[in-house]
Amino acid sequence: MKTLPVIPSLRGLLAGVRRTRPDAPKIVSVPALVAFLILAAVTFSVVFLGPFQWSPTTTTSSSSSLISSSAGAECDMTRGQWVRDPAALPYYTNATCAFIEGYQNCMKHGKPSLEFLRWRWRPDGCGDELGRRRFDAARFFRLVRGKSILFVGDSMASSHVRSLVCTLAQVEAPERSRSPGGFEHWRFPAHRFTVTFFWTPFQVRWRLSRGPPEAVGPERQGEVFAGPTDLHLDEPDQRWAPAAKGHDYVVVSASHWFARPAVYYRGGRVAGCHACGLANVTALRPEHAQRAAFRTVLRALAGMKGFKGTAILRTVAPTHYENGGWFDGGECTATEPADPEDPEEMAEPDGEFYRAQVEEFAAAAEAARRNGVRLRLMDVTKMMLRRPDGHPDRYGHGPGEHEGFDIDCLHWCLPGPIDVWNDLLLQILAGR
Ligand SMILES: *[C@@H]1O[C@H](CO)[C@@H](O)[C@H](O)[C@H]1NC(C)=O
Ligand SMILES: *[C@@H]1O[C@H](CO)[C@@H](O)[C@H](O)[C@H]1NC(C)=O
Repeated sequence: MKTLPVIPSLRGLLAGVRRTRPDAPKIVSVPALVAFLILAAVTFSVVFLGPFQWSPTTTTSSSSSLISSSAGAECDMTRGQWVRDPAALPYYTNATCAFIEGYQNCMKHGKPSLEFLRWRWRPDGCGDELGRRRFDAARFFRLVRGKSILFVGDSMASSHVRSLVCTLAQVEAPERSRSPGGFEHWRFPAHRFTVTFFWTPFQVRWRLSRGPPEAVGPERQGEVFAGPTDLHLDEPDQRWAPAAKGHDYVVVSASHWFARPAVYYRGGRVAGCHACGLANVTALRPEHAQRAAFRTVLRALAGMKGFKGTAILRTVAPTHYENGGWFDGGECTATEPADPEDPEEMAEPDGEFYRAQVEEFAAAAEAARRNGVRLRLMDVTKMMLRRPDGHPDRYGHGPGEHEGFDIDCLHWCLPGPIDVWNDLLLQILAGR
């Protein structure tokens, strides 16, 4: 078996990237540099979720006919426009919410223009009123009284949790805690509501197959090493799945990690792999794994004994790297949303992942109905596709800090455009 080279530490690697870039042409041969960048890409994406294959293609709107927010008779909030509102104020700021992570904290890190906060999402056919209305925290709290919501996913899910918690915290300061097994909780005692987060990048069972001991240890779950990862496409991640029954709402999402090298398993046997370097294993595209993982997880939730709640699939939030990828100088310097007249372009594999999610959602709906589980699609893809201005870009860290992406066009600023996801969530919770 070919073994991938081991990288001593991410920090060392990042320092290397920074040191190397300006001098590279002088001191490093081109093949060595290419090998290094590929390796850097792989490692970096393990930690910060960045897909490392970028081949922008245009997606047609053919998949849009499948879109259904399933929010009952109310308007479809997933289609609409971003409209400028110079008077718009964020629900919270870096000064009023303590839960914003460094890599989301664009205000603190001096993003030069905060104009990206002056846009409202105005859904089509919902009347202008909905576009102007601020998130109704009182209504949200009324709907969730005595209930709990579990978010399961990667750092993008973590960002949504923080957006929600920061917004609600303006009404009631939550109590934060952790419980064994990696669950993080925010309790709002006066409103008898709990938000729980569990970090898992694939939804299905996974294990880092090769890496230094500190990376493969049970606590690290592979944060610091360049895989490949073993992905058991037909088994939900048992570290969180049994906990779903204890919640009224479960929000699942996953995408960017699937672009990484991985060996795919079915029934405990190797079924294929992506970029794994094994000649005797069938090459499969990451889209295959994305589709299979969502099939597994949605069916598990739809058919889960004892779960009578609402399972929500939040779709891909697209990245917006231009002039390169995250590892070779790609950036996102737009200062306003994309023109609605421009064609919708989604970098692959984001577009493929999105189609896989929407189709697997539709395929699981019948099983969910039979079992009395509400299955809802929270389709954020098209609205986020139009927000290249909402990423941290160079302002996800302070000058000289090496945490996270150097230039981050994958995560989103908080506060920022993803705060509108809470409006979609509210509409789903209020629906039949
Ligand atoms: C592929 O080959 C390696 C050794 O070259 C072996 O260890 C591995 O089991 C093989 N995998 C499969 C699925 O046959
Ligand atoms: C919030 O951001 C401002 C700049 O907009 C900065 O001066 C301040 O230190 C930040 N505060 C916190 C708590 O991050």
